[in-house]
Amino acid sequence: MTAPQTIIQRLILHDFRNYRHVDLEPSPAVNVLLGRNAQGKTNLLESVLFLGLGKSPRTGRDGELVRWGCRVASAAALVKKRDSTGKLQIVVSVDAPKRITWNDGPLRPRDALGLLTTVSFFPDDLYLVKGGPAQRRRLLDVLLSQADAKYARHLIRYHRILRHRNVQLKALQGRSRGGELLEVWNQQLLEEAVPVMVARARAVHRLAEAAGRVHGAMTEGRERLQLVYKPFFAGDEEQEPDAAWQDPGAVAALFRAALERLERDELRRGVSLAGPQRDDVRFIIDGADARTYASQGQQRTAVLAVKLAELDFLQAETGEHPVLLLDDVLSELDPVRRGFLLETVADHVQTFITTANPEPLSERLMKAARVFRVHQGTVTPA
Ligand SMILES: Nc1ncnc2c1ncn2[C@@H]1O[C@H](COP(=O)(O)OP(=O)(O)OP(=O)(O)O)[C@@H](O)[C@H]1O
Ligand SMILES: [Mg+2]
Repeated sequence: MTAPQTIIQRLILHDFRNYRHVDLEPSPAVNVLLGRNAQGKTNLLESVLFLGLGKSPRTGRDGELVRWGCRVASAAALVKKRDSTGKLQIVVSVDAPKRITWNDGPLRPRDALGLLTTVSFFPDDLYLVKGGPAQRRRLLDVLLSQADAKYARHLIRYHRILRHRNVQLKALQGRSRGGELLEVWNQQLLEEAVPVMVARARAVHRLAEAAGRVHGAMTEGRERLQLVYKPFFAGDEEQEPDAAWQDPGAVAALFRAALERLERDELRRGVSLAGPQRDDVRFIIDGADARTYASQGQQRTAVLAVKLAELDFLQAETGEHPVLLLDDVLSELDPVRRGFLLETVADHVQTFITTANPEPLSERLMKAARVFRVHQGTVTPA
């Protein structure tokens, strides 16, 4: 028996990006958004992510989401979950903070996380393996924040404390002593950082299992993908895995040791050098560091394996399949990988696919999918 799904039954936008008004009834299975460039396809997926995450992956300034010349935008989704259906809405205004509601009752942004869980695969994700560590941390943060409200809380508090600590460090910059003034922040930093790091380590371990399995199947067992969490205090040498992560006290001790080791450099540079803001995840294919050695095709297969592992992870954590958003990436995948992706999600994951060119999509898929045409900020069933 397959697990229940999270389903968007209706999506309503007002003055969101280039849309004046949209009222859409998507299929619970595959939806294809078809349209030429710059018509609003990605904007539509962005609205779903905005609802799910409470912020846009494309901009930190919510005001950018408001249609040019307007003052207020809104996005709303009727979301069907395992045991409830509700309306999730965000109203964005150019001159006031956004307001999030669930069935018209106000919600704090972090309480909205998890109501509409999503996994997204955007063209930028194709650089996940070779790009900078921030992209890999972001993947973990988005995933874990949706799966576990406590994670989001720790992460938000962690970043707040880190900002305070950086202000203090800036004031101390260039001095050879003064580290004791950081101590009040250090203790608080640890309290928030350790749960974040423990959760990341466990998540990478689980993602690695699922991604490794999928990757093995996609390469017919010819290649082996490993993912390894690299906490900021790990050296370049192979990280001793797992044991420490069972024991938060041991993680805190490693963090403390790193704080002592880095204190002089932190004072010299006036910025925090210790902490999960410097974590990374290593991708290893057949024992070699994929960041350096993977071919284009290998990177793609690895990213796709991770995306499928994310779906698995959220389903296992929340008990429901998340919504999948595929922005223009199917044409970037060869038929074998594309087939793998679509077969995996078929029938039990609500999927939104945008594309300017339907050709790579099989006839069978197009027949089964609900197809919408996106043209100059309008969406109509095809
Ligand atoms: N706040 C806004 N108000 C009005 N229009 C906007 C706003 N923000 C972005 N746009 C416009 O929305 C248009 C469509 O953007 P979108 O990224 O969704 O295109 P797309 O259909 O995904 O195109 P592509 O196939 O090239 O990816 C852009 O041309 C942009 O100028
Ligand atoms: Mg686009």
